[in-house]
This record gives sequence, C-alpha cells and structure tokens, in this order.
Amino acid sequence: SDMDRLKRRPPVVTVMGHVDHGKTTLLDSIRKTKVAQGEAGGITQHIGAYHVDVEHGGLVQQVVFLDTPGHEAFTAMRARGARVTDIAILVVAADDGVRPQTIEAISHAKAAKVPIIVAINKVDKEDANPDRVKQELMEHGLVPEEWGGDAIMVPVSAIKGENLDTLLEMILLVSEVEELSANPDRAAKGTIIEAHLDKARGPVASLLVQNGTLKVGDVLVAGSVFGKVRAMIDDQGNRVDSAAPSVPVEILGLSNVPAAGHEFEVFLDEKEARSVAITRTMEQRTSRLQQALASRRV
Ligand code: GTP
Ligand code: NA
Ligand code: MG
Repeated sequence: SDMDRLKRRPPVVTVMGHVDHGKTTLLDSIRKTKVAQGEAGGITQHIGAYHVDVEHGGLVQQVVFLDTPGHEAFTAMRARGARVTDIAILVVAADDGVRPQTIEAISHAKAAKVPIIVAINKVDKEDANPDRVKQELMEHGLVPEEWGGDAIMVPVSAIKGENLDTLLEMILLVSEVEELSANPDRAAKGTIIEAHLDKARGPVASLLVQNGTLKVGDVLVAGSVFGKVRAMIDDQGNRVDSAAPSVPVEILGLSNVPAAGHEFEVFLDEKEARSVAITRTMEQRTSRLQQALASRRV
C-alpha cells in the first residue's frame, strides 16, 4: 500500500509578514550562509523558492523555503503559501511591531493549521523592541514560550546574519515533530506556485511537488491546463530529470498558463489527461457564462 512506501520529506517553509519587515533579506541571508555561492537563477527570480542544506546532529537535512510578498495586494499569495506549507515563519520587524499583514499572515497560517515560528527581525536597530513585539503578538493568540505559551519566537538580524542558526534549528525541531512524509514512488501531485508566458519558452510554471516524483516526459493536468513536461529546471537554474516530494521546480511544456494555486496531477494515460483538461475547461466556461448571465440580471 501507499503507507509502506512513505519516506521522510523535507519541510516546506513559507516566510510571511508585513511589507518590508525583512522576509527576502532573511532568506537571502540564510541562503548565503548555507548554500555554496552559485548563479542566482531559475525559479528564485519568480517565486523565491529554493532549498538549503542544513547540518544538524551530524546529518545534512534539506529545508525548502518559499518567499511571499508582504504588500497588501498579495493576500491570495499568502493564502496559497499557507496552504502549500508545513511551517510558517512569521517575520516581524522589532522596530515596527505587529502590522496589518502580520495579522493577516497569522490568520492564514491558523486557517491552514500550520505551525508558526516567529522571527523577530531587525534586532540590530536602535529602536528595536522585541518585548513589545511579543506583547503585541500575545494579543493575537501567540504566547511566547518564555512567557508560558507554546509559540517559538527567535530574535534575529537578517542583515547581520545573527541567530539564523537558532532559527534553522527551530525549523528542524518543528519539522521533526510534524513527521512529514510522502511516497516518492507514485505519480506526482502538487501545487502550481507561479506561472507565466515566456516569449521564447512558452508557458512556464513553477510548482511544488507534494507527493510522488515528477519526471520529464510526464503528462499532467494543472487546473484545466494539459501538458507534457518537456524540461525541468531546479532552484539553482540547472536542468533536472526528476523532482521528488517537497522539491520546487520550473517546468516547460504546458499547453497554456495555469492559475497559481491550482493543483496539478500526473496521469499515466495521456488520453485521460486530455479529456480531464477539456472537461474542466468546459466547466469553467459554463460557470463563467452563468456568472455573466447572473450579473446581467441584477
Ligand atoms: P516585501 O517583500 O516588500 O514585503 O519586503 P520584505 O519583507 O521582503 O523586506 P526586505 O527583505 O525587502 O527588507 C526591507 C528593508 O529592511 C530593506 O531595506 C532591508 O535592508 C531592511 N532589513 C531587512 N532585514 C533587516 C535587519 O535585520 N536589520 C536592518 N537594520 N534592516 C533590515
Ligand atoms: Na521590501
Ligand atoms: Mg520580499
């Protein structure tokens, strides 16, 4: 059965928080300290998804990070981030405190039942006040461990690279508790993270494999979009032949641009895949038509 083949998979960690609180800087800083310097390429430019290898207890463990924008216009991306993630890192700037998108990120993570680790960032700043941040977070149901609660809060300076090891340690600790697993031997399933039309390469989709292994040549349906994976590019910008559970990749070969947030699924039978995609396209068209007619009546 599927249960027999379950193997541990790396945690997928989404970084959320208010605009300019330092999410991208934090990820850059983690990457710089943990990843051999290479070409920044591939999907990181589009979605900021990449993995790092963390040494822990004599073992090397992978952690996959997804960045999200804090701008208020990106509510859907934060909701999507919360859905594909195992752990949410909530970045709160110690000089600015809890702000509207901080609160929104907390509610997305709670709705998705995702554990939250708080990174209290910018502690290097003169007007940083981590205790005030903790107090404000308490008002939103996050009680720090040291005050008798169960919320992990780590003071960090993304810019100075301070205390990032503790943050990574907490990520590994929480992910161990979650016992994350998947079956790499089945047909792949996952979620589209971002997609766009590239003039030279056609539709390009960044996706996260959540179960199974995605391979070049696989036939998939993403929402109502059909495709045969022509090429796959990893988070380092390298061409790869396959992607295991928790691995983010960029794929080429789709017939159209799928919507971000849609799930994708590999089909062993190409005919069946085409027919599923066609049925879904027709269903979407019908529902759009119904909406248009309904709005005309009011
Ligand atoms: P959005 O993606 O726009 O929501 O912003 P973000 O959360 O990714 O913030 P970003 O990493 O772009 O950082 C915003 C600003 O804060 C930049 O000027 C950073 O240099 C600065 N910054 C980030 N981390 C720190 C820190 O630890 N200390 C200080 N002093 N500044 C920081
Ligand atoms: Na910013
Ligand atoms: Mg950013």
